Amino acid sequence: MKKVCLTGIKPTGNPHLGNYLGAIRPAVRMAQSGEFSGYYFIADYHSLNAIHNSKELNQYIYEVAATWMAFGLDPNQVVLYQQSHIPEILELNWILACFTAKGHMNRAHAYKACVQENEANGRDPDQGVNMGLYTYPILMSADILFLQSDIVPVGSDQLQHIEIAREIAQSFNAIYGNIFKLPKALAQDVPLIPGLDGRKMSKSYQNTIPLFSSEKDLKKLINKIKTDSLPPEVPKNPDDSLIFTLYKFFATPEEVETLRAWYLRGIGWGDAKAQLFEVLNRELMVPRQRYLELLNNKSEIDRILKEGADRIRPKAQEFLKKIKKTIGVL
Ligand code: TRP
Repeated sequence: MKKVCLTGIKPTGNPHLGNYLGAIRPAVRMAQSGEFSGYYFIADYHSLNAIHNSKELNQYIYEVAATWMAFGLDPNQVVLYQQSHIPEILELNWILACFTAKGHMNRAHAYKACVQENEANGRDPDQGVNMGLYTYPILMSADILFLQSDIVPVGSDQLQHIEIAREIAQSFNAIYGNIFKLPKALAQDVPLIPGLDGRKMSKSYQNTIPLFSSEKDLKKLINKIKTDSLPPEVPKNPDDSLIFTLYKFFATPEEVETLRAWYLRGIGWGDAKAQLFEVLNRELMVPRQRYLELLNNKSEIDRILKEGADRIRPKAQEFLKKIKKTIGVL
């Protein structure tokens, strides 16, 4: 039996290079290795704690599905589905909530960050905090536990959530025996990905490189990367350069060495940026094309997501039945 590998992406719009390097690329590579039974989903109910615009949410769901497939996730090889299509997850969510220590939720990062920001600004600590945000880790535990996942590839910001999922599973198992498998996080070992201004690439800093910008926009964005005013002929330190840092994620080892030597001889920033554009565009060109095609054919995405849900719902129903018998409601 192959191990179960599961991961989800929250549809919040405009996937960028940081999401790609941190979550999408490693997850797609795992799927393509064929070593696991892969489950990849769109965590639409997780977005609902933040996105209250129906058109936007709906569009973002398609964008995440198209992004997965544009980068080569094959829905025939793995199961690709939408969280809200599996209502059993919500039933499990409630059951798990009854085994979750409130203290864990108080300590969860996303909620805590919100409270801290409120406090720093002299607002009521709970302002803007809904219960969806507060109990976010329980729903995530339900996502993971209902498929008996072995491995969950995530960015390092999600490690705490996987730890919470393990603890919830353990609290349940301690009473009823070994019902839930304990998942393991597979933290992606990606260094911090800098944005256009050198800070961490993040939507909230507005310094991202969106994955599917047109070639022209991509070029423009790269030209915005901050540099110093050293003239071209002056030798430059590649390890101190934002352009070089980004280049390394996309270039072959030989290309990296060639560019490194060029830096040390003296490179103009215009040339360095052109090199970065080359390797980036090389990797994004085909996915960009596929992404646009997919988004122009939403009924095909609908079909794929429906098929994904059809493939796993029976499994979810069977497992839920077992859990309900275990706790005595059935
Ligand atoms: N919380 C994850 C994120 O923001 C998305 C997610 C939801 C997820 N459920 C999951 C990831 C289960 C892995 C497993 O990126």
